Amino acid sequence: MTAIREPKISINGVTLVHVNEERRQEHLAVEDLSLDIVEGEFLCVVGPSGCGKSTLISAIAGFMKPRTGGITMNGRAIEKPGADRGVVFQEYALLPWKTVLDNVAIGLKYRGIAKPERERVAREYLAMARLSDAAEKYPHELSGGMRQRVAVARTLANTPEIMMMDEPFAAVDAQTRLTLQEELLRVWDEHPITVLFITHSVEEAVFLADRVAVLTPGPGRLRELVQIDIPREARHWDTISTDTRFLKLRDHVMKLVRNPSR
Ligand SMILES: Nc1ncnc2c1ncn2[C@@H]1O[C@H](COP(=O)(O)OP(=O)(O)O)[C@@H](O)[C@H]1O
Ligand SMILES: [Mg+2]
Repeated sequence: MTAIREPKISINGVTLVHVNEERRQEHLAVEDLSLDIVEGEFLCVVGPSGCGKSTLISAIAGFMKPRTGGITMNGRAIEKPGADRGVVFQEYALLPWKTVLDNVAIGLKYRGIAKPERERVAREYLAMARLSDAAEKYPHELSGGMRQRVAVARTLANTPEIMMMDEPFAAVDAQTRLTLQEELLRVWDEHPITVLFITHSVEEAVFLADRVAVLTPGPGRLRELVQIDIPREARHWDTISTDTRFLKLRDHVMKLVRNPSR
C-alpha cells in the first residue's frame, strides 16, 4: 500500500483583506489562493514584495481570518494562534535581556515545564544548531546569522507541527546567508518537520524547497507550483550552482516571477 501524504495545512480559495477601520479602507492582499502544504515537505513561497506572503503567514498562524475560503490544519479549521504553528521572523525576535539558553527555553517556560527540564531540552536544541558555546551569551553578543540560528532552535524546541519562516535570512550578508541555508537543511534533515519558508529570493527558494509556490504581484494569487526534483544530497552551494537541474529550475521560476501575467 502506498502511503498517502496528507496535507498538514490546506488553503482553500482564500482571500485575505487588511481592513483599516479608521480610514475605512480595505486592502486586498491575497486573492482566491488554494494550496496544500503536505506533511513533512519543505514548501517555499516566492513572490515580489507586497504580494501577500507575510499576510498568508498571519492567516495560517491564526492572527487573521480569511474573507472568503478557509484554512485547515490536519483537517480542522484554524481558529486562533497556537503553539502547533511556530514562526521565525526576519527580525531577530529574541528577548535582549535573556541569555541564548533562556531565549530557546522561553516557550517551554510558558508551557509550565520545570526549569531543569526546559534547560535540558533547550541545550539539546542549541547543540543541534551548533550553538552550545553561545548558551550563556546575550543576543547582542551574537552575529545576525547566529541570532537567526537561535530563533530556529527556539521555534523547534517548542515542537510545532509546522515551522513557518518569513524571509528569515533577508537581513544577513550574502555569504552568511548561503551558510544558513545549508545549515537549515542539515537541521531539517535531522529534525524532519513541515516547513513553510517565505522568501523573495528565487535562488534561495529553489535551493531549499521540495516545491516552490510562485505568487503573482499583489494581490497574491498562485502563479504556479514548481516541483524541485533535485536530490537532497545535491543541496550544497559548492556544487549546485553549476548543476544543470538547479539552473533550469531557477531560470524557470525566475521567468514566472518576472513575467507574472503569462
Ligand atoms: N496591516 C495592514 N494594513 C493594511 N495593509 C496592509 C497591512 N499589512 C500589509 N498590508 C498590505 O498588504 C499587502 C501584502 O503585504 P505583505 O503580506 O506584508 O506582503 P509581502 O510579505 O509579500 O511583502 C501589501 O500591499 C501591504 O501594503
Ligand atoms: Mg513580508
